[in-house]
Amino acid sequence: MGPAKIVPEAEALKQAVRVLGKGQPVAIPTETVYGLAADATDGEAVARIYETKGRPAFNPLIIHVASPEMAEELAHFDEVSRHLAFAFWPGPLTMVLPAKKGSPVSALATAGLETVAIRLPRGFARDLIAAFGKPIAAPSANSSGRISPTTAEAVAADLGDRIPLIVDGGPARVGVESTILSLDGRDIRLLRPGGLTVEDIRAAIGVAPSMPGAPGGKVEAPGQLASHYAPAARMRLDAASVRPGEALLGFGPRRARGVKAAKAVLNLSQKGDLREAAKNLFAHLAALDAERPDRIVVEPVPEHGLGLAINDRLRRAAAPRP
Ligand code: TXA
Ligand code: MG
Repeated sequence: MGPAKIVPEAEALKQAVRVLGKGQPVAIPTETVYGLAADATDGEAVARIYETKGRPAFNPLIIHVASPEMAEELAHFDEVSRHLAFAFWPGPLTMVLPAKKGSPVSALATAGLETVAIRLPRGFARDLIAAFGKPIAAPSANSSGRISPTTAEAVAADLGDRIPLIVDGGPARVGVESTILSLDGRDIRLLRPGGLTVEDIRAAIGVAPSMPGAPGGKVEAPGQLASHYAPAARMRLDAASVRPGEALLGFGPRRARGVKAAKAVLNLSQKGDLREAAKNLFAHLAALDAERPDRIVVEPVPEHGLGLAINDRLRRAAAPRP
């Protein structure tokens, strides 16, 4: 396959529908990160996603829908999940729900689980699903274990010679993946912090989801595998100082000691704004990594709001590699 065609989203809808119809994957913008989309009802198309990413097939995919009605065909909703859908869809929320018998989603996409992860995205992604008329499976459009792409160029650099089409929607608005909640009966658990904050969830339903990583908690979303989102460089977090040869990823107005000798410096948000920081996170990590520093050292990021998702991705990027 030659290099992928990169087409601006305003001109890409028909072409993307055609590619999906042929059972091929297409990279698309969503508000969180770029996704690698394929027909969720076509097992071969889904297999091509796993193959293209080099992703283990036991790691299930998020199924993206264009409407709450489409979602109800795939999963059992209850009062709480309906309320969350009403409050936050379209948007950066994924809900893991009991799958419906007779759902058209390929068993490969859900890795044979009795649950299904569903999200209703904003913008081009939603328009595409509506035009296609079927749900699409879409993991982040990166090779398995690497940094999620937030621009079409980042997708091209990673997967450009493995897929036919990349739809360019500009830099992703949120910049980190969706928040994943598991809902069965009364139990609401946060499987992955993401673009929707726990504070917003609590404001909508009156309770905060129970948090992952509590002692004894088992890995439920394979995205919780410790090492993930890894740049090539080693990482050091919560740094107060930086050494020569290291690259610095800053946050806020004050810099770590030794900044003048750093090999490269980027700031997630000069004014300390967590939204801006989330939006910059993956692109800044990739840019610092490209400088081939001895290490990427990161200044502290506060653990609230979008800081939960940012710190989660940073900790995975810093985790020992398998
Ligand atoms: O923002 C996002 O969610 C992006 C965009 C493209 O929509 N997608 C994304 O997909 O981040 P991916 O495949 O990189 O992450 C999906 C996560 C994985 O950690 C997977 O294990 C988990 O969702 N997951 C999917 N189905 C699940 C299920 N039934 N139960 C538990 N976890 C599930
Ligand atoms: Mg991913």
